[in-house]
Amino acid sequence: MKNLIGRAIEARKNAYAPYSGFMVGAALECGDGSIYTGCNIENAAFTPTNCAERTAFFKAVSEGKRKFCRIAIVGGKGGEMTAPAPCGVCLQVMAEFCEAETFEVIMAVSEENYSVKRLGELLPCGFSL
Ligand code: THU
Repeated sequence: MKNLIGRAIEARKNAYAPYSGFMVGAALECGDGSIYTGCNIENAAFTPTNCAERTAFFKAVSEGKRKFCRIAIVGGKGGEMTAPAPCGVCLQVMAEFCEAETFEVIMAVSEENYSVKRLGELLPCGFSL
């Protein structure tokens, strides 16, 4: 957990958030133990903004990864950290690739201060075809 949160804190430094000022970092652990990180990337047109969690997922999936164990997320404005919960769009992306009962979402303020929920708790009724 500690290492994964540390990687998310590191990834947050690359957040591009000139509009909201809310900087987010994520670190995604794959089934093979590899870790993919992501940050939020905002856009002047607002809707093209990508969340940190989706950046991490899209990086991993585009590199051929399909099995995931857990994701650590950190975020906040400026120096403050608030342990953000993933937005609904990111949860739906997670639901595409992860088991609702086992995939862990770690929402962290720091390496020592965090909470863990299963994907199914955060998205009990995700869309599926
Ligand atoms: N954001 C994330 O990166 N992840 C979330 O789970 C929630 C929100 C970003 C999007 C936007 O750049 C900023 O935080 C404020 O919404």
